Amino acid sequence: MLEELKKRRAIRNFLPQPVGRKKIEALLEAATYAPNDRMREPWHFYVLQQESLKQFEQVAFNYLQQRFPTKPHLVESSMKAVTNTPLIIVVTSAIVADDEGATIDNTFAVSSAIMSMWLMAESLDLGMVWRTRGVGLVHETALHEFIGATENERLVGTLCIGYPEEKITTEKKRTPFAEKTTWL
Ligand SMILES: Cc1cc2nc3c(=O)[nH]c(=O)nc-3n(C[C@H](O)[C@H](O)[C@H](O)COP(=O)(O)O)c2cc1C
Repeated sequence: MLEELKKRRAIRNFLPQPVGRKKIEALLEAATYAPNDRMREPWHFYVLQQESLKQFEQVAFNYLQQRFPTKPHLVESSMKAVTNTPLIIVVTSAIVADDEGATIDNTFAVSSAIMSMWLMAESLDLGMVWRTRGVGLVHETALHEFIGATENERLVGTLCIGYPEEKITTEKKRTPFAEKTTWL
């Protein structure tokens, strides 16, 4: 298990090859088994490919242009994250009215679901990165509106998925757990 966890990496560059329906469904099924408080199963998935992905490109482009009006190079380089991705899955979490604790717990559950998808992606020879910032648009209204999410949903992740352009072999240095642990 530790070896599998070490192998999981954020993959940001993909081949143009599309991801087949069976593999997409396997990712979604993996998410389904994530732990979640009181079985609220608070997740919803929005799958963007081909036509809808092209439309999302425009949403991301408009956002970037508005955000960085004087930095066309930054806009252009940031757009590659969308234009070079064959599949995007936006994952939302349910907001529980008048219950902040439950709403936060729902986000925890959705985060677990995304991790399951990430590990499943690796096992299917796919690469994935969970984006929130930039074209991830998780903290903006543009993507929420575009996918048609309700006001009872909060965006948690914009998952960029595809066949990896290359394998990452460098190890990402991590802080030893001893430095992050207090034994009481
Ligand atoms: C909640 C969350 C948000 C992230 N947002 C972004 C993002 O907006 N853009 C990006 O390039 N990577 C993003 N990442 C990926 C991290 O940068 C990446 O996981 C981290 O650098 C560790 O590298 P590794 O996944 O290869 O181990 C995000 C990861 C998480 C868990």
